[in-house]
Amino acid sequence: MSLKLLTPVLDGLIAAVSIVDNKRKIIFANNAALQQFDALLVGVDFVQTIQDPACLKAIDKVLAGRKNSQVEITLQTPIRTTYHINISRLGAKEGTDETQNARAIISLENISHIAEAELMRSEFVANVSHELRSPLTALNGFIETLKGPAKNDKKAQERFLDIMENEAGRMNRLVDDLLSLSKVEANEHVRPENSVDLIDTIGQAIEILTPIARQEKISIDLEIADDIRTTLLADGDQLLQVFLNLLENALKYGGANGHVSIQMFNSKRVLGVRGKTIGIVFKDEGAGIAPEHLARLTERFYRVDTGRSREKGGTGLGLAIVKHIIARHRGRLLITSTLGRGSNFSVLLPL
Ligand SMILES: Nc1ncnc2c1ncn2[C@@H]1O[C@H](COP(=O)(O)OP(=O)(O)O)[C@@H](O)[C@H]1O
Ligand SMILES: [Mg+2]
Repeated sequence: MSLKLLTPVLDGLIAAVSIVDNKRKIIFANNAALQQFDALLVGVDFVQTIQDPACLKAIDKVLAGRKNSQVEITLQTPIRTTYHINISRLGAKEGTDETQNARAIISLENISHIAEAELMRSEFVANVSHELRSPLTALNGFIETLKGPAKNDKKAQERFLDIMENEAGRMNRLVDDLLSLSKVEANEHVRPENSVDLIDTIGQAIEILTPIARQEKISIDLEIADDIRTTLLADGDQLLQVFLNLLENALKYGGANGHVSIQMFNSKRVLGVRGKTIGIVFKDEGAGIAPEHLARLTERFYRVDTGRSREKGGTGLGLAIVKHIIARHRGRLLITSTLGRGSNFSVLLPL
């Protein structure tokens, strides 16, 4: 088939496709190629488009007689982008001396999203291993001490066993949170379909955390606006998890002034949420969070102060879980904070 007939077909592809002659000069480029690469022009050497040695070597191999060649390259400019490149021989048959007429068709597929997902996955595995290893190292250390130096020291034994209990608890919470996270991610695209009254759910969360609030001498206020609608299609267990996480954070990190409040209201037209919404705001009067941390708080294992989070028994996964659950409910999480004044974590859910 002639190139003329093929042009509309190649122009319909998402991949950037170009054809070069035996001197690597570009003799055809589809729409995607012309749009994605400013330096890609018909008539110029392909070198000017992508100055990557591995890519050029692969093209030259094909022009020299190879049937097909593939490479993956990452370009840093204008923005970091990873391409899977497939180069196939056109025309001249393999093994024949027709290199004069050789041509190669080069197709570039942008696979940055896959590369990014892979990077995130490997970072996550490294983080999880690190988070699991530190309590494990502590446990091992204390076992050694209990078997050796502290063998006959009753007082030290009790103290060490308490620490070990703590560390084992930390590992347990981490495993629980990892399982929750993977469950939540797995059903993020399934819309919840039970009718749930959020006043009940909030009540449950407060009841569960009241002992902690008492212990820390923090009062929890619940303010519910008049005549509001609080029932929606939701996953009650998951929203309980959201409220527990946010209330627990408010108590742990924002309880300095001895007071935490929860406000519930209806509102219309919240940015990014369709129709009428119910808002649940967790307000604290604690130390607040510096602006540079706000956008990253919902990342897995991101903490403002790792030592403090550990000391409070945190896993660093709470807000990541919260974010996914709210996304499943097509809602939004808004975080605002003023250093020294406190923070507001607002959950906005469409009714
Ligand atoms: N109400 C709050 N006030 C101040 N900092 C907070 C508040 N809530 C969360 N943070 C910060 O966000 C981090 C991440 O929270 P989260 O994902 O729940 O993890 P964890 O509580 O296990 O550390 C916390 O470690 C803390 O630094
Ligand atoms: Mg937390």
